[in-house]
Amino acid sequence: MFQDALRGKIDTVKKRDLLTLQDFSANEIREILEATKRFKEKKPSVEEKNALSGRSVVLLFQKSSTRTRVSFEVAVSQLGGHPIYLGWSESQLGRGETIADTAHVLSRYVDAVVARVYRQADLVEMARYAGIPIINALSDLYHPCQIIADLYTMWEKFGFLEGLKVAYIGDGNNVCNSLLIGCSKMGIDISVACPRGYEPASEALNSAKRNSEENGSKVKILRDPFEAVRDADVVYTDTFVSMGDEAEREERLAVFLPKYQVNAELLKAASEKALFMHCLPAHRNEEVTDEVIDGPHSVVWDEAENRLHTAKAILAKIFIDW
Ligand code: CP
Ligand code: NVA
Repeated sequence: MFQDALRGKIDTVKKRDLLTLQDFSANEIREILEATKRFKEKKPSVEEKNALSGRSVVLLFQKSSTRTRVSFEVAVSQLGGHPIYLGWSESQLGRGETIADTAHVLSRYVDAVVARVYRQADLVEMARYAGIPIINALSDLYHPCQIIADLYTMWEKFGFLEGLKVAYIGDGNNVCNSLLIGCSKMGIDISVACPRGYEPASEALNSAKRNSEENGSKVKILRDPFEAVRDADVVYTDTFVSMGDEAEREERLAVFLPKYQVNAELLKAASEKALFMHCLPAHRNEEVTDEVIDGPHSVVWDEAENRLHTAKAILAKIFIDW
């Protein structure tokens, strides 16, 4: 017992982590989307507006980032808090200090950690030893904050979520895993078209199947992109070569191209008013052509903007409600 206390197992502390979207109920996600709308319309409640007043948040990044880093940094400061960017390799983590020890120490200084890591297991470890909320800013397995912004974008564009059809074309990666969970939670049908061997993680797929059984939505894993986009309201793709996969670049491009590229021909096979979405950064003319990403169906800039409004809503919810 005393040993446990010394090791700092803080399992009695009430805190809310966001490690995967599966941690949140559909209702909680809806509340975050409603709060996002208030932030975007510049009408947050006084409590929401000052949700981080007097608080500090570490942004701990082990991989590159533009959107996630900047949107969270701006979100923290606009909510009255103090963001502290910490590069993994510039911190003592880069020299071997353990995640548990780091989690103990950061918990004594700041109020939350937004962390981008190579391994989801490292986030789980951090959350286990930290007495403060840990927010997943992307791992090998999940990218929940991205998908909250994507759900918001769909809601903003269509006015509803339940009953929409999303087609994800390409690599069954972190973004795809979280999209499966997010869509299935909100009653959106999702079809993933990917090559054999590049399917989404079974953990994510199992969660998505469980969610869809609860609300009657559909989850399909297909090979044929044309079959996936049939009647789709949203066509979504992401890079074929995620951060950490660089050594497999040539092999991956040979597997994915040309079949899994979102181009004008594929988009035409979706619903007439289908939106094109991409978490960005795009690898133009690999997973998506210039014609599509710069074309009239594309909502990628609104989607990127919504990272800021949703970052605020996520932080406000974590600090006000839980
Ligand atoms: N979409 C996204 O997470 O972008 P960054 O890698 O730039 O943060
Ligand atoms: N799947 C991509 C997403 C980048 C935001 C990656 O992990 O690199």
